[in-house]
Amino acid sequence: MSTLLEIYETMSYGPAPEAAAPAHEWLDAHSRRFGLYINGTWTEAANERLFDSINPANRSVLAQVTQASSDEVNAAVAAAKAAFPAWSQTSGHVRARYLYALARQIQKHSRRFAVLETLDNGKPIRETRDIDIPLVARHFYYHAGWAQLQESDLAGYEPLGVVGQIIPWNFPLLMLAWKIAPALAMGNTVVLKPAEWTSLTALAFAEICHEIGLPKGVVNIVTGDGKVGEQIVKHPDIAKIAFTGSTEVGKIIRSATAGTGKKLSLELGGKSPFIVYDTADLDSVVEGVVDAIWFNQGQVCCAGSRLLVQENIADKLIGKLRTRMEQLRIGDPLDKAIDIGAIVAPAQLQKIEQLVAEGEQEGSVKWQPSWACPTDGYFYPPTLFTNVAPASTLAQVEIFGPVLVTMTFRTPDEAIAIANNTRFGLAASIWSEDINVALHAAARVKAGVVWINSTNLFDAAAGFGGYRESGYGREGGKEGLYEYLKKSEVKKLKTKASPTAPAVASPVSNGLPALDRTPKIYIGGKQARPDSGYSRIVVGSNGETLGEVGDGSRKDIRNSVEVARSAANTWSAATAYNRAQVLYFLAENLGARASEFAQRIRQQTGRTDAELEVETSIERLFTYAAWADKYDGAVHATPVRNATLAMVEPIGVLGLVCPNEYPLLGLISLLAPAIALGNSAILIPSAEHPLSATDLYQVLDTSDVPAGVVNIITGDRDSLAKVLAEHNDVDGLWYWGSAEGSALVERSSIGNLKQTWVNYGESRDWLDRRVGEGEEFLRHASQIKNIWVPYGA
Ligand code: NAI
Repeated sequence: MSTLLEIYETMSYGPAPEAAAPAHEWLDAHSRRFGLYINGTWTEAANERLFDSINPANRSVLAQVTQASSDEVNAAVAAAKAAFPAWSQTSGHVRARYLYALARQIQKHSRRFAVLETLDNGKPIRETRDIDIPLVARHFYYHAGWAQLQESDLAGYEPLGVVGQIIPWNFPLLMLAWKIAPALAMGNTVVLKPAEWTSLTALAFAEICHEIGLPKGVVNIVTGDGKVGEQIVKHPDIAKIAFTGSTEVGKIIRSATAGTGKKLSLELGGKSPFIVYDTADLDSVVEGVVDAIWFNQGQVCCAGSRLLVQENIADKLIGKLRTRMEQLRIGDPLDKAIDIGAIVAPAQLQKIEQLVAEGEQEGSVKWQPSWACPTDGYFYPPTLFTNVAPASTLAQVEIFGPVLVTMTFRTPDEAIAIANNTRFGLAASIWSEDINVALHAAARVKAGVVWINSTNLFDAAAGFGGYRESGYGREGGKEGLYEYLKKSEVKKLKTKASPTAPAVASPVSNGLPALDRTPKIYIGGKQARPDSGYSRIVVGSNGETLGEVGDGSRKDIRNSVEVARSAANTWSAATAYNRAQVLYFLAENLGARASEFAQRIRQQTGRTDAELEVETSIERLFTYAAWADKYDGAVHATPVRNATLAMVEPIGVLGLVCPNEYPLLGLISLLAPAIALGNSAILIPSAEHPLSATDLYQVLDTSDVPAGVVNIITGDRDSLAKVLAEHNDVDGLWYWGSAEGSALVERSSIGNLKQTWVNYGESRDWLDRRVGEGEEFLRHASQIKNIWVPYGA
């Protein structure tokens, strides 16, 4: 009699295909031709603008889809605009009911959606059935909850208007859900464009919107290629663009929206590290790698595509991986036992082949399993590279395919250095059974999402999004809602007009010229002469010369960025308690010299409310000293045995271009939240009234602010702002100035996709606490890192 093991070993593979009939029937019911879904109706599919949607597993044409015309894009935006007033006024509860109905309807048709997605995209049915579609439903349920809670929990914020959403082909329906659910929940209306290779499930979703009676115009689906996307991006009636896709297109969109006032969130590429320490459980690691890089054929923005292994276990792990790779099954994605499906399209397949060839030319060593791929579709085998140099193409460029590159490290520090040696920062996976090692690495890796002893976990309750060139903004969690909200207008307080103060005499004594007290610029805790060797004259409210300040230049900015970078590392590691104490100390020292500062404000601006400005500045420092240890994160309730820690992290090095008005308070209002959360700052003070900033040097010197945390460069504000915007080691930039300056900052910051916050020329009443301080500032000063920590004995 044979043993069970022998029976297993003699059994041959038998396919277990999922029935595709329901999806094909649905396509037939639409005659396999689709128009667009605009204002609650389907447009006629115009013959001359139809293009094919292909099944990449067998190259068959599934249906024909419309390339939207510009008139149609305009009609979709007009429909969304017309629908916005009523939809945004609809109560949160009623919107919750619609979102709930969408979730239910998706669940009722889940198998049809799963099969359709697999046919159109080529991903295994096991993934669409067990991951994509359940998560789609989960997103609508979760956001139904936020619609319900909006009035109580998000008071003071309102929806933006018409939102343009452009999504990629790797998770077609899931990306739609990530975008549409929060937008609708918060009361916006939507024009969404799916990727041209994978439009079908978005069209099936449009039908569901129709079935549940979603008011017309609330969701509009337009199909087509990048040209259609471009029109959406440029449309003047669109208030926000939410984009997921390549970093290249993300940069084009940043450039196209610069200075328009459109809100923007970008979820872009990645080259995420998968770090394995010698304390890891290697068999779990092997399964983790399978999920990290062969899930969805590696066409995942957060794929763990760089395997970093501690040197002493590298050979053992590579051996285990090769054994596992031999067992992976590639083929018909509708087969329920398939691990790897088809690559979405020939162009993507060619891109993978080309990068692999480049990698081989650069000297990296390729390994693939012995079996051959099917030839009837676009398949690519799981591929493992060793001997990869950290700076090589394979280690730096997003391949977006089933290709894993391996590098080794010796020490935990080296692991983090290699992990962070990338322009991206989307995700990281960390493997060690030693919780100290794992959490230490999680804190230091630059990534928006970190998975400990796990990978590719997603949930609507946990925010997802990147650091650095992986984009900005979060999707999911409460943090993701703010992408679809703006602060409600606050009614102006009735303040008494500020009459011009009497002239203050210039500091000339005994008829002799005053001693030269030209303040220099302030870098690394010291005053430094500006590199230009020039000074600028500061003129008081009466037209008299008050003094001179240094005229900062590109070189001064570069020097200050260098010291701010190293200060950011230690300052962010200081405890929040410590940072709060420094802020209190600043307030105290400013208070000790309050009348002197008030006098200076009067000299410069001629305003009579100078005392109030100083008093409010002190109060503001207190506010952020208070927040420093209270603006903390959350533990998200994700539905696995897991603690998902949403940690608030500083952005890093922030450029702060201060408002011209309120020379002291404007500066403090930006500086205090930035440093409270652990950023270091380079300030460009009020151009007209810079002396309040330069007077602050001594206060900073006596308040235990570590050198380099605060740097102040006086000079021409917009040209210094441009230098900051173009500097690739500045992580974020706030600009308070003109509309043109705002546009300049947004346009010039494309290089490293820094996070910008600009005022488009609108001023604020900085004396009014409701607009001059609060969580809005703290949100811009921080980014959330979600760390997933599964547990279980
Ligand atoms: P892509 O970024 O060109 O396409 C994404 C979406 O943007 C599609 O809907 C496309 O029609 C639209 N689009 C293209 N050009 C546009 C423009 N100028 N203005 C507005 N919308 C535009 O990505 P593609 O070409 O499909 O893939 C290329 C590479 O991008 C992949 O190999 C991969 O490396 C990366 N990628 C990353 C994704 C991610 O999730 N991070 C998703 C898809 C691709």
